[in-house]
Amino acid sequence: MTGDDADMSPLPPNPRLAALDAVAARLRCPVCGEGLRRDDRRLSCAAGHAFDIARQGYANLISGHRRHHGDDARMVAARERFLAAGHYRPVSSALAELVATQAPDDDGIVVDLAGGTGHHLVAVLDASPRRYGLCVEASTAALRRAARVHPRAAAIGADVWGPLPVRTGVASAVLSVFGPRGVAEVERILGPGGVVVVATPLPGHLAELGRLVGGIGIDPRKPERLAASFRRFERIARREVTRSIALAHEEVHAVMAMGPSARHLSDDRLDRAITGLPGVVDVTVSVEIAVHRAVTGQRAGVR
Ligand SMILES: C[S@@+](CC[C@H](N)C(=O)[O-])C[C@H]1O[C@@H](n2cnc3c(N)ncnc32)[C@H](O)[C@@H]1O
Ligand SMILES: [Zn+2]
Repeated sequence: MTGDDADMSPLPPNPRLAALDAVAARLRCPVCGEGLRRDDRRLSCAAGHAFDIARQGYANLISGHRRHHGDDARMVAARERFLAAGHYRPVSSALAELVATQAPDDDGIVVDLAGGTGHHLVAVLDASPRRYGLCVEASTAALRRAARVHPRAAAIGADVWGPLPVRTGVASAVLSVFGPRGVAEVERILGPGGVVVVATPLPGHLAELGRLVGGIGIDPRKPERLAASFRRFERIARREVTRSIALAHEEVHAVMAMGPSARHLSDDRLDRAITGLPGVVDVTVSVEIAVHRAVTGQRAGVR
């Protein structure tokens, strides 16, 4: 490369933004739907809509009024502590194996919807060394972590209930792990042969803890509702991860504090409820992982 060529280079490489640069061409402006490109610390479209890239490296693609804020910092920290202890490793491994074997072998990305800190995306990308990942999240606390979780994972702030700032047909796989999803948008962003891998709790999941504080029961009709929402897809694989895990009191605290009941429970109340338990608490993890293939894949690059 000559000196002149080097000067023409639009931006110096920024290792922290390498994954965002790799996936930027697959993103779209949340205002007008045009493609986005990075311009230093912003992503912008040809019409001039611009979105800041946070210091941690995630791009905030939420336009207008923010309706969902996702998990707060306390919940995210609890989730991170719990996941780091490896209790959901068999879930991550199953997700990784399913993406590696069922997603088409093309240049599509893996989109982790409501991906939290990107914990499961790490396992998926490690098992698929040519793929890039994109964590789509509403929670700022989660995005800060997800942006740095893996060299091939980018993170964007977006509401998964709304239109996704992701171009049509660019995903080979969509992950939806214990989080909200809009099925029509999943279908739109998947390319031909693309798969959505959905992890949901089965009725026994963490059941022992539900008794402790009351009310983390799982709707027994959830599998039917899930199947109905994916009726335009073909289910091509299913795994069940059911195991017993032994939790110390801090871990019981973490698993409770990361879930929906945490919003209504202070740390003190949680600790008081946990004090009466045996030193080690046996808890059931029971998760279904289903893989659905889009029957009509979209053509990549079309809005
Ligand atoms: C139960 S956590 C699962 C996180 C991650 N998939 C995992 O398994 O570690 C649900 C996640 O959904 C996010 N979330 C909730 N509502 C959302 C929305 N409307 N748009 C995007 N993310 C949302 C929360 O911030 C949280 O990180
Ligand atoms: Zn625009």
